Amino acid sequence: MINLRFLKEIKDKEIVSVGFKEQKEDYFLERSDGSRVLIVGIEKLEKVNHRRAILIARKIISLAKANRIKRLSLNFYDFSFPELKISDEEKAELLATNFEMANFEFTKYRTPPEDGWSFVKEIVITGEISEGVKKAFRTGQTIGDGVNLMRELVNTPALEMTPEGFASETKRILKNRNIRIQIFDKKGIERLKMGGLLGVARGSMNEPRFIVLDYRGAKNRAPLVLIGKGVTFDSGGLNLKPSDAMSDMHMDMSGAASVVATMRLASELKIKRNIIGLIPVVENMPSGKSYHPGDILRTSCGKTIEVLNTDAEGRIILADALCYAKRFKPSIIIDVATLTGAATVALGQRAMAIFSNNEAFLEKVKNLGELSGDYVWPMPLWEEYEEDIKGTFGDVANTGKTRYGGAITGAVFLYQFVKDLGIPWLHIDMAPRITSIEGEYLAKGSSGAPVRLLLRILRDGIGINE
Ligand code: BES
Ligand code: ZN
Ligand code: ZN
Repeated sequence: MINLRFLKEIKDKEIVSVGFKEQKEDYFLERSDGSRVLIVGIEKLEKVNHRRAILIARKIISLAKANRIKRLSLNFYDFSFPELKISDEEKAELLATNFEMANFEFTKYRTPPEDGWSFVKEIVITGEISEGVKKAFRTGQTIGDGVNLMRELVNTPALEMTPEGFASETKRILKNRNIRIQIFDKKGIERLKMGGLLGVARGSMNEPRFIVLDYRGAKNRAPLVLIGKGVTFDSGGLNLKPSDAMSDMHMDMSGAASVVATMRLASELKIKRNIIGLIPVVENMPSGKSYHPGDILRTSCGKTIEVLNTDAEGRIILADALCYAKRFKPSIIIDVATLTGAATVALGQRAMAIFSNNEAFLEKVKNLGELSGDYVWPMPLWEEYEEDIKGTFGDVANTGKTRYGGAITGAVFLYQFVKDLGIPWLHIDMAPRITSIEGEYLAKGSSGAPVRLLLRILRDGIGINE
């Protein structure tokens, strides 16, 4: 993490101070005493809203890295814009979170350059800073670090991040953090009768795992259940993906990684809630032992799944996790999954698709998305769509009957496994945000979404059934 310090003013000439100016270009200004100022160009100061402020915070780091500046200073009150209407605490948290996110790179497998990595090491925040604002800076750093933890897990190649590898990483990450961890291996999963998870797992020599995380931050309160899709590599199975569609598929465990990172943050920030994390982890591979199109799998709650396409594997493993959730009598269930390419076709790469059986929940999450910087957009879950996933020989089919509305059929499929609980449920199809994109000042690879959103939901609550 960046070394954050707070000083009223700064005398060290080695430290580059940051300023903002209404113009296109960014440049360095040399003062007569030899110190330098990094002027960040902002085209229209009055247009700096919450969304743009996030990008400016990251751009500061990105410019510093490009110019190999290791130490920066910023006057907290210079980061004020007429359209950025948030409290000082929120501003501090926004700055620190995005500093950390922009300072992350996946270097684990790279030889360091001779002159070292270009990470920013220290930022001095100047001005009269209250204790509350200092604390908010620290919280922001913790959140950014949590987001980066997810990115590290997601970016790690499938050869290392097998289901077993993911389970042991989860153990390592959550050790001594007041979270109970239970890991079921193949035998355990057989005992749980999770025919969906076992079916998808068949083709791979790497056996599946089912991870249960239990964080108790409140007494006697029904837990919120977080479920994450953990496909450590999605080749498509016998319905093999075309080669250009396969290259990012070691990241198909992004939902799982977001749950692990969010649970760690919940414990670090002492969130006053009970949270259960459920993570089915599996590799989807073709082989002589693979499950086939036409197979019918029996989930642990008895409902059968007719496999029409082995590449629609995420919903199959999530079905078993949703079945398992029931035993906790949860108040709310949220699942996160890189479920469909169709969600990306619908929204582009700038927003995740959200679905819920509760309109108010959907609206709330849309607003929290805006505040968190993990943007989401609601899509319909009308009962008419259920027609599209009716099975012929099994209860539900794992794909729709046409090429259309793939993100919706995925969501409607999952809904069949929560429907009878009658509680608010949210499905986040995060496929659109699986990787970062040009212009958001984030390193290539995992975007870290939706950790910030999940944490917001946990902190603010949704005001329904809780
Ligand atoms: N993991 C993929 C979806 C995906 C694709 C996520 C690209 C992120 C980037 C998922 O398992 C899948 O293959 N879905 C299929 C479903 C189809 C067979 C009904 C898809 O989207 O094509
Ligand atoms: Zn797939
Ligand atoms: Zn997948």
